[in-house]
Parts: sequence; structure tokens; C-alpha cells
Amino acid sequence: MGDNFACLDDFEKHALSVLPKNALDYYTSGAGAQTTLEDNKRAFSRYKIRPRFLRDVSKRDLSTTVLGEKITMPIGISPTAMQRMAHPEGELANARAVEAMGTIYILSTLATCSIEEVAQAAPKCVKWFQLFIFRDRSVTIDLVQRAEKAGFKAFVLTLDVPVFGIRLADVRNRFTMPPHLALKNFTSLSMTKFDEKIEGSRLTGYVASLFDDTSNWEDIKWLKTITFLPILLKGILTAEDAVLAVNHHVDGIVVSNHGGRQLDGTFASIDVLEEIVNAVGNKIEVYLDGGIRDGTDVFKALALGAKMVFMGRPALWGLACNGEEGVKQILRIIRHEFDTTLALCGCCNVGEIEREMVVHECHHSK
Ligand code: FNR
Repeated sequence: MGDNFACLDDFEKHALSVLPKNALDYYTSGAGAQTTLEDNKRAFSRYKIRPRFLRDVSKRDLSTTVLGEKITMPIGISPTAMQRMAHPEGELANARAVEAMGTIYILSTLATCSIEEVAQAAPKCVKWFQLFIFRDRSVTIDLVQRAEKAGFKAFVLTLDVPVFGIRLADVRNRFTMPPHLALKNFTSLSMTKFDEKIEGSRLTGYVASLFDDTSNWEDIKWLKTITFLPILLKGILTAEDAVLAVNHHVDGIVVSNHGGRQLDGTFASIDVLEEIVNAVGNKIEVYLDGGIRDGTDVFKALALGAKMVFMGRPALWGLACNGEEGVKQILRIIRHEFDTTLALCGCCNVGEIEREMVVHECHHSK
């Protein structure tokens, strides 16, 4: 399966035809009128590439170093909840594929496999753990301690879920998890399942009862006292918050609007990347997710200052089409596209990507 798929969109099309409606709507949807969701992808097409030629591109190397860790390419996998809805092996298959491809896998707090299971399935994979701040801080502390023990290399604190975004399809479907699945990172039984009595999306009720909407910058200070690992903030969309992140001594930022799923009407991630990169200088690393679907998108994000990019939905489509092999396939395809883009732009490695090689169509004066 998937051998004749030529691009990530081919995987998406097939996944849309095989996934059950409840899971499909949950995976695809964005918040509200989904303008941000759509713009995440469309915005990339408004940036144009200015390639250079006659530069001997015969010896190319896609590797990069992120938080001191050498990885094979600047493309990793974003945290997405409940991956077992896409394939029975869910997070295990996803992490194994990422391990084989030598890049970074971010495990969601809301996973259907546990921290320990994922660590055992993909021991050599560079794994980061995505965190939320729970009202009951002991839940967050427990997750931090277990992820540290299991060999995870960094924490990715998601900032953009003080409350849950309104995703209309999930409201209409009264979205819930299939009964054979559970949120495996929790030990308390009441946290592994959703309350089925709640109206609309059951996940909205879950988040409202457990996530802490009082959380603020003081919690970053607190988080730093409970872990020795690097802390990255995911969901930053403004230079103002990026500066606060630097001032709170975090180790990196993921520029992200949660795949358009939280607040509709924000800018596409790629449209705020440069503002954030300029605000932080080279004090900390800046990554991006949202709408990355081919190798030229990766090139554009790196030219605008991202150290690496992550993809959420494409891995779910890979899983739905072909499990572990499907995720490997999507990573191989985008790797090849990125390699081809580098060569066609006159670059042999990520260090040779120049800012001038990408320009927004509105700013093209020549
Ligand atoms: C997400 N995302 C997400 N983010 C997070 O921090 N914790 C989570 O549990 C989830 N869950 C989740 C589920 C699903 C189905 C999707 C599609 C997304 C957001 C995710 O990490 C990432 O920001 C976006 O998916 C990036 O956009 P693309 O690559 O899907 O366009």
C-alpha cells in the first residue's frame, strides 16, 4: 500500500477514504470557519523561491543539529492525540518509523500508548514529550518524571490550549474515543476516558475539567524547577510572547497555531515565523509546524529562519494508509522533495540556504 503514492497529498486522499467518520473529522478539522487551517497551507504558496545555479550541488547533506542532537533531516513529527484511531499500533508505529528515519518524534500527552510503551518500541528514536499544565500539578509532575526516566530528551509545553478550540465537526459528531482505546499516559482511570454524559465534543469537557486555564508565565518558572531537560514552548504566534519566552530562559519555540485547531483567524504559522525569528535573534532555536506538505515548504521555513519543521496530520495519513511503513513512506517522500529543492536552489546543506532565496510575493520589487 502506498507504493504508487507520489506525494503527501496522495496519502491524505487515501486516508480520507479509509478512516471512520468520527476519527476522520477529528483529525482533519480546524477551529470555527477553518480559515487558519486553510491558510496554513495556502500561505506557503505566497512565498516564492529565488534559486541559484552553477554551484556544484553534487554532494548534499540534509542533516542538522537540534538542541545539540544530530538528526538526519530538519523534518520531525508534531504531537497529535490518539494515534491508535489511525492504526492499531498508533504511536508505537509512528515512533518506530521516525526512529528508522533518524529524526524527532514528539509524543502527545493525550496518547493512546504510554510514555513507557513508546520508549520501549523506539528506544533509539530522539523523543520529546508534549506537556499540558494540569489543574492538579501532580499529574504534570508525574508525566515529567516518567518521560525523563524513559529517556525523552526535551519537553514541549503547549501554550495554546487554555481552553479547547471549537471544532464544529466534533461538536456535531459528539466526538469521543472508540471504546477499545484509552489515554494511556494516565494512571487514574477517570483520566483515561472521556465523560460520555457531556454535550458536544467530549474532548472539550475533558480539557475544561482537567487543564488549568489559570496557567501563566509563572508556570514556566515552576516547570523549570521540576525538570533538568530543555523546555520548548509550542504555540507562540507573536514577537511579544517570543521575547517573554527568551526572558523566561526556555530552550526553544515552536511557532504553531495548533494546525488551525484552536483559534480561527490567526495568521498562518509561516506568516509569523520571521517576526519571531527576528525577535529572538539566535538566543534560542525556533521551529515551525502547520501546513508543511512538501519539500519546498521545508525550504521556505528554513530560509525564513526555522531550525527545523514538524508535521502533524501527514503522519496520521501515513499511519492510516500503511502503519509504520506509511509514516516511513511520507518521511521518505518529503525528504526526497527537500533534497531535490536544495539541489535546485544551489544548496548542498541546510547551512547554505540563504534568506534572500525566499521572498513573499507582495514584497517582490524587482
Ligand atoms: C494536534 N495537535 C496537538 N498539539 C499538541 O500540542 N498536543 C496534542 O495532543 C495535539 N493533538 C492534535 C491532534 C490532531 C488530530 C491534530 C491534527 C493536531 C497540533 C499538532 O501538534 C500540530 O501543531 C499541527 O498538527 C501542525 O499542523 P499540520 O502539520 O497538521 O498542518
